Amino acid sequence: MLCVLRCFMEKIMAVEIKKVKYLPELRKVAELADEIWHEYFPCIITEAQIDYMVEKFQSLDAMCRQVEEQGYEYLAVYDDEDLCGYIGIKPEKDDRLFLSKLYLRSDKRGKGIASLMLDRVAEEAEALGKNSVYLTVNKHNDQAIAVYEKRGFEVSELVVTDIGSGFVMDDFVMTLKLE
Ligand SMILES: CC(C)(COP(=O)(O)OP(=O)(O)OC[C@H]1O[C@@H](n2cnc3c(N)ncnc32)[C@H](O)[C@@H]1OP(=O)(O)O)[C@@H](O)C(=O)NCCC(=O)NCCS
Repeated sequence: MLCVLRCFMEKIMAVEIKKVKYLPELRKVAELADEIWHEYFPCIITEAQIDYMVEKFQSLDAMCRQVEEQGYEYLAVYDDEDLCGYIGIKPEKDDRLFLSKLYLRSDKRGKGIASLMLDRVAEEAEALGKNSVYLTVNKHNDQAIAVYEKRGFEVSELVVTDIGSGFVMDDFVMTLKLE
């Protein structure tokens, strides 16, 4: 039992979550986004919609615009110095933090790393004086919804958003109230 716990802690200790400050690192995050989206989402949306959404929301150009013009911040997740995930956040003008992106490469899932990522999101929100975190998640993305529910998020709304070119996002809004 102790050995299992130690192995788990060693695994977790190797995880580092760092704010992305420079373009070359953001470029690597964009490459990872492309990989994760094409691996994960074919069971939920079409390849055409994946291509469209990656270009519109997760390409290097799109992420640069979000950072420079819309107040987004990206955090890169490293496990043993291997870039394997990323977080995108945006403080709203009110008392909420928008968790725009939370993604992990497939070989790193199911190990508790997302819990560390969500802890970090809550820390960022608290440091900004926010009292809740909200996100949108495709209503068929059962695994992500289960993770968010386990971590205390609750569905607060159902939204269908027209994102152009004949595509829509069919999402739940989920909210976590911070103490
Ligand atoms: C969403 C994502 C980041 C979650 O990462 P993960 O590695 O699967 O999550 P973790 O293993 O860290 O689990 C996080 C918590 O949820 C729990 N959990 C995981 N799967 C669960 C399930 N099916 N049911 C209930 N709880 C679950 C874990 O036990 C853990 O809770 P704990 O820390 O209190 O023990 C990852 O699955 C992913 O990148 N998916 C593809 C992209 C995506 O859908 N992103 C979200 C877009 S909105």
